[in-house]
Amino acid sequence: MAKTTRDEELTRLRRLFAVTDGRLRTLIEAFHGEMRRGLAGEPGSLQMLPAFVDLPTGRERGTFLALDMGGTNVRVLRVDLPGDGSFPGRIEDQFQLNREQVAADGKVLFAAIARFIDRFLRERALSGRYRLGFTFSFPIRQRSIARGDLIAWTKGWTAEGVVGRDVVELLNQALAAEKVSGVRVVSVNNDTTGTLMALAYLDPDCDAGCILGTGTNICYRERTAEIRKPIGPYGRDFMIINMESGNYNAALPRNHYDDLLDRQSENPGLQAEEKMVSGKYLGELVRLVVADLCGRGVLFGGRLPEIFSVREGFGSERLSEIEEDDSPGADDVRSRLRGWGIRPADAGDARALREVVRIVSGRAARVAAATLAATVTINDSSLDGKHAIAVDGSIFHKYPGFKARMEETLRELFGDRAGRVRLAPMQDGSGLGAAIIAAVSADETPGGSEILG
Ligand code: GLC
Repeated sequence: MAKTTRDEELTRLRRLFAVTDGRLRTLIEAFHGEMRRGLAGEPGSLQMLPAFVDLPTGRERGTFLALDMGGTNVRVLRVDLPGDGSFPGRIEDQFQLNREQVAADGKVLFAAIARFIDRFLRERALSGRYRLGFTFSFPIRQRSIARGDLIAWTKGWTAEGVVGRDVVELLNQALAAEKVSGVRVVSVNNDTTGTLMALAYLDPDCDAGCILGTGTNICYRERTAEIRKPIGPYGRDFMIINMESGNYNAALPRNHYDDLLDRQSENPGLQAEEKMVSGKYLGELVRLVVADLCGRGVLFGGRLPEIFSVREGFGSERLSEIEEDDSPGADDVRSRLRGWGIRPADAGDARALREVVRIVSGRAARVAAATLAATVTINDSSLDGKHAIAVDGSIFHKYPGFKARMEETLRELFGDRAGRVRLAPMQDGSGLGAAIIAAVSADETPGGSEILG
């Protein structure tokens, strides 16, 4: 077999990771099919989980606590909802879970969280009674706004004894066990739903929420009549649906690097779209491609540098750093390579690495944009209305050019109408959203205002 050159390898990769216009459109159609199947309760890759809440009116008011837990960073907030169109006030603190708390045992995990709430109240000298809205950024099966059973962990979490349990009850029990008095968890929501609610509180065009961070997911507003699977009592005409779109898996532009990543992951066969798009996996995809190119002798003189030899050892924040350097000689990438102990760090290697990163992140942005395009067109195929999508997450906010590439893809798909779809950056909306949902819950619970009495 003739030896391939580096350029030939990059051309091969560009083809392998390409998402053509035709592929985008096929993906959107397949996504619609999966949405409909999920709403009907038929097997498929989109769970379409009812959130038992509709958009806020903007008149929700009062003071609430919120807990935002979706990564090892946990935030506790006190939110003042003015209910008059002005911006909510908030104070918040951030706490850190360690690996053991995330991986070992649910009791340990929830006890740690209860103690964070306790510390927040004490350090902020807050007393009194509070209702708390809980953002729990994993797939939950809800029976009401106040109950959510964990379906499965994602994003590498494994704490035992939580799958199948109601996380509201687990947190209320932990608060009691840790003697944190005066706080009652009254609602639970996904981070996408929280993000949507936070924007929708002030912006009437908002009808979808999206996270592009460690994990990825989308929620949107649907007519209750379209939810054909049984959901139990719910009195409103519209409901937010948490799609768990990270698990989407139909007509995706997958290749053998995706298969390899999947086989080596904690959850093989699951979260296919998330594994192409989100921060937990982008670095790993690049690492697998780099290892392959090294094996073919076209990168780093055929010797795999240590930084690329450990699973998940090459984090997505490194990809951002690499893409920040757009100099012709990739000078900054070269000095980074040197910093990672790679010698000689020649310009050809640096440029090729940057190109690999661009290829992998470029596909991610196009796939992410296509899933949002599918979301807004499910009930508005010709984009007659305006759609503001609240988007949060490190990849969206921090990855150089990611948002711009998503917008470019939306323009390619929608032409003149692309202006009807707005990607609205939302920072830390999920905590604020949880407080709004707690307020909705208080308004809807009979005797809700006495719930703490
Ligand atoms: C994962 C979770 C999902 C969450 C997303 C973003 O995909 O399963 O619930 O919304 O990460 O945090």
